[in-house]
Amino acid sequence: MAFSKILKLILVGAVSLTGLTLGSTTIASAAGGYESDYEMVHKHWHFKGMRGTYDKAAAQRGYQVYREVCSSCHALEQLSFRHLGDKGAPFYNEDYPNPNDNPLIKAFAADWMIQDTDPETGDPIERPGITADKFPAIYPNDSAARGSNGGALPPDLSTIVSARSGGADYLYNLLIAYDSPVPEGMVLSPGTYYNPVMEGGKIAMKAPLSDGQVDYAPVEYMYKGEMKTIPAPEATVEQMSADLTEFLAWSSDPKLEQRKTAGFATMLYLLILCVLLWFSYQRVWRNVKH
Ligand code: HEC
Repeated sequence: MAFSKILKLILVGAVSLTGLTLGSTTIASAAGGYESDYEMVHKHWHFKGMRGTYDKAAAQRGYQVYREVCSSCHALEQLSFRHLGDKGAPFYNEDYPNPNDNPLIKAFAADWMIQDTDPETGDPIERPGITADKFPAIYPNDSAARGSNGGALPPDLSTIVSARSGGADYLYNLLIAYDSPVPEGMVLSPGTYYNPVMEGGKIAMKAPLSDGQVDYAPVEYMYKGEMKTIPAPEATVEQMSADLTEFLAWSSDPKLEQRKTAGFATMLYLLILCVLLWFSYQRVWRNVKH
């Protein structure tokens, strides 16, 4: 029966698509002419899977770690401050559907200094950020960035989770793997450090995190119309790395939640349509011998 074949094909297609979305990422250990027995830690990320969403409390803490630790070297130039308060973003608040009105987002923006031009005199000035501003560059240009970092360029972190194969697991492991013992025979030139997750095992970034580096406060966020309070966890390297990864996964793919909701509704719609088509097919052909 041709129809049942088509139905089967649709079902097989849907199942394999689901499998693709749910499938876990495996990352090959860094290879580069040396042996490392570092085993990648594969965490269960909140945003994986068909209906995954970002863990807002973790992403909020992640922003804190980014601001207090990473932002001295790494920019987030693809983002504007207002994006932090958009729907699906870490600091979304239903009371302020327009993030430009959200006092928290205004405070975050004002915490950065922005290079601008005085509209009256045309002179370069510095002013506190407003919600519409983009996150500023950390260095005036790449040469200055390299100059301050022993010749290496700290990449922009806005899309780093999508940019590296292995995504969230890669970033998380990169941050927690610094204390692995240096393999025998590996020579590290000044300004390079051993990190088994980095291709070739060498990185020009010193371990950026250490236990207790930030002071976590309890996080308050809006969930289904209610304010929730999540107590502050201990700021271990693992915790801060996981929180940062949650935040940078969001910045790499800010529309993930909307996309998944729309995808789920579409699948449901197609399924109902399939069932309806099946019954109408049965009805239309009920008196025909075949
Ligand atoms: C003192 C400056 C400095 C700080 C602070 C810093 N980094 Fe870096 N980072 C660098 C430099 C320099 C590189 C380039 C390293 C290289 O190319 O070997 C880098 C590279 C990276 C990379 C890219 C690795 C790759 O696969 O190429 C990531 C991801 C990263 N940093 C994340 C972070 C995070 C997250 C933080 C905050 C916890 C942070 N960095 C703090 C200087 C810094």
